[in-house]
Amino acid sequence: MKSFSIIGGVPLFGSVTASGSKNAALPIIFSTLVTRGVCRIGRVPDIGDVRVAIELISELGAKVRRVDGDLYVDTRHLTYRDHSADLCCMIRASTYLLGSSLAAFGRCKLPQSGGCNFSPRPIDMHLDAALAFGGERAGEYLTATKLKGAVISFPKPSVGATINALIMASVAEGETLIRGYAREPHVIALSDFLISAGADITFTDSFVRVVGRELHGGDVSVIPDMIEAGTYLTAGLITHGRVTVRGCDPKELSSYLDLLDRLGADVTVGSSSVTASLTGDPKPVAVTAEPYPGFPTDLQPIAAPLLSFAGGEIYDRVWQSRYGYLRALEPFGIRYSVTADTARIHPSVLHNADTAAPDLRGGMAAILTALMAKGESRVNSAETVLRGYEQPTEKLSYLGAHVTLSDP
Ligand code: EPZ
Repeated sequence: MKSFSIIGGVPLFGSVTASGSKNAALPIIFSTLVTRGVCRIGRVPDIGDVRVAIELISELGAKVRRVDGDLYVDTRHLTYRDHSADLCCMIRASTYLLGSSLAAFGRCKLPQSGGCNFSPRPIDMHLDAALAFGGERAGEYLTATKLKGAVISFPKPSVGATINALIMASVAEGETLIRGYAREPHVIALSDFLISAGADITFTDSFVRVVGRELHGGDVSVIPDMIEAGTYLTAGLITHGRVTVRGCDPKELSSYLDLLDRLGADVTVGSSSVTASLTGDPKPVAVTAEPYPGFPTDLQPIAAPLLSFAGGEIYDRVWQSRYGYLRALEPFGIRYSVTADTARIHPSVLHNADTAAPDLRGGMAAILTALMAKGESRVNSAETVLRGYEQPTEKLSYLGAHVTLSDP
């Protein structure tokens, strides 16, 4: 088990460049299975989840080559086989096998997905979509002779179910309409990849229209990771430093920048960069996490250490119980209370401590809290953080943090 050692209380200054988005790269990698040709995917982050996704599509015959940040995926000779359960259990994104394998081979063993387990994570909407396209459930398998276009109305926006529906619709026979779809930038990024592979996809305010086609190899660069960008800006703020994140899309961060504004931070926005610092006393703030364009749920654990200055409230409308990570911040002295659906963070005096990463974003929240607290801290289960952050030790060290990763 790897762990991060952190000597906190050091202000972070400087700039870092955002990596490619994990949550955009993963569906693009799985969706290559419905193309036939050679795909180029640029700016793919070298993180644990991506490595597992590559292993999973390689099991199905995809030939994958990494050249610097670019991934080349040759899908000309795919063959169905049941995926390895142990790989599937390592990442949540293995649910994308449901749509991509069913569409590519007419068969899919239902994936037992893993990844962050902060809340029940049902897949009923994914299954309903697969059945609407003509899939049939047979025990632990989904099968279909030919997927047919369908009208799908999701009762609430789901990133994963929208992604699976888009993948299936792109190659299904005829027209598909998807209502109630998730609008996150990574959903649009997936459709940009599918369009580059020949897909016919049009977004309107109320639905997505897809006309199924045969797809050739696609070519796209992964969008910048808005959650990672928000993480490094937060690292600067909580240490009373000043961090610039370059190569990001400030529009995608606007709900987070609004929080910083309410907190009293000094924020400068460029065309593809953001700089933030805290000059005065932070104010208490409330955060409501919602589907895009609302405040991203994946940034609410990252915001929690910021709220420990002056207190604040977190209400997560996407994952109602995503507050378990606060237990991992408690050893640092963070005071909080959780009622049915709201977490209150109270003004706290922090000190160094040892803890373990409970999940990806909760683990990064622990690293951030350790950066605030004077003295040496340890965050165990570092692999959980390395699943989704590219070179966090290097990036934080570059900003002046005293962080090392021990690798027993
Ligand atoms: C994606 O998970 C992300 N994961 C999550 O990021 C992120 O928190 C989440 O979207 C919301 O933005 C990946 O992209 C790999 P959902 P996903 O389906 O697709 C309910 C991170 O830290 N729902 O949009 O699994 C569900 O319970 C991770 O990077 C159903 O009810 O999330 C939730 O309340 C953690 N039935 C809501 O929808 C379903 O069939 C949104 O979930 C599916 C979802």
